Amino acid sequence: MSAVRKYKIAVIPGDGIGPEVTREGVKALEAAASVCGFGIEYETFPWGCGYYLKTGRMMPENGLEILSGYDAIYLGAVGDPSVPDHISLGGLLLAIRKGFDQYVNLRPVKLLEGAPCPLKGVSPADIDMIFVRENTEGEYSGTGAWLYEGQPNEVVIQNGVFSRRGCERVIRYAYELAKESGRKLTSVSKGNALNYSMVFWDRVFAEVGRNYPGVKTDMLLVDAAAMFMVKEPSRFGVVVTSNLFGDILTDLGAAIAGGMGLAAGANIDPERRFPSMFEPIHGSAPGIAGKGIANPLAAVWSAAQLAGFVGEKRAEKLILDAVASVLRDKRALTPDLGGTSSTSDAGDAVADAIRAAGNPFLKAIPHNSTHAS
Ligand code: NAD
Ligand code: IPM
Ligand code: MN
Repeated sequence: MSAVRKYKIAVIPGDGIGPEVTREGVKALEAAASVCGFGIEYETFPWGCGYYLKTGRMMPENGLEILSGYDAIYLGAVGDPSVPDHISLGGLLLAIRKGFDQYVNLRPVKLLEGAPCPLKGVSPADIDMIFVRENTEGEYSGTGAWLYEGQPNEVVIQNGVFSRRGCERVIRYAYELAKESGRKLTSVSKGNALNYSMVFWDRVFAEVGRNYPGVKTDMLLVDAAAMFMVKEPSRFGVVVTSNLFGDILTDLGAAIAGGMGLAAGANIDPERRFPSMFEPIHGSAPGIAGKGIANPLAAVWSAAQLAGFVGEKRAEKLILDAVASVLRDKRALTPDLGGTSSTSDAGDAVADAIRAAGNPFLKAIPHNSTHAS
């Protein structure tokens, strides 16, 4: 008898809608685990803005040490109006990304059938890209200075840090992804204005590319890239870019592929020295928190990425197919997608679809049947 595969997942629901959407992601993981025959042990950590208001920290001092014992981290969202954003994000989300050297932020921008798209004449086949966002340095290095604060000669300096190691490794990752998927690789930069950092980025992109003669490439300035994402999204396959540009372009990507409620992201340490972290790319959405109407599908999609990353490829596919089927049949859609369902109804519909797909008998039953015959 083979041993049951078992994974240890640290769950950080966080703030706002974070706990509401991660609950549904866990439902999907559980459904997939039961179909595929593996087990997950979850430990939930109450870190976030509430924790900060009580303790003065977003997570304990040894938070990273605690997390290092897990196979993966599943995070909801961070941020609450009661705590300045640079403190809450810097003390938790960014601290984990940087502390665990999760230098690849993988964000699919894929229009699923049934998801609303604001662009005219565009079909799902036209929007299918994967962003490889640099995730540990660049414009978000967190270094700089604030001089003469509050005085007339006040000066603020925010550094962009682009190391050769940092650029090479994320660009190499993107080339590998393009090579194995047979897709075009687009580098997005801004060398015409950022005369050090982005000139360097472009140079590294060209240098690394010499080892990948078979990969078709394109280089775009970020302003033009934003325009093409709207006007001609089909020109993108794999996209590699810096931390800030990737942040902005993937919200634009979310907007053209169904909205923030559908956009997932994985913070990956490709060398697997540390746990990787999976999260929806949206924030804590304080305006809708506690109402039970947040769309959980982005969190569910990131749970699928988690399953795939720990090696459960069938579970990843089952979860993604279930999300697609719920969208396609317009079952249990939340208000952002034009439906009237609650967060938990949407999550239940996904979990049901996973179980049905895993059971050939159930699969044969139309979802509106009340009995099998
Ligand atoms: P946001 O993503 O929270 O919200 C932007 C808009 O999208 C809002 O209208 C919101 O209601 C909507 N939205 C987001 N997720 C949704 C979902 N799942 N279902 C339905 N609608 C959804 O971005 P924001 O308003 O700029 O930021 C709010 C807070 O979240 C801030 O504190 C910010 O710093 C933080 N934030 C955290 C993360 C993270 O933890 N990864 C990411 C972005 C923003
Ligand atoms: C994201 C978020 C974060 C980022 C913020 C909250 C620091 O916007 O994950 O996209 O910019 O990386
Ligand atoms: Mn963002």
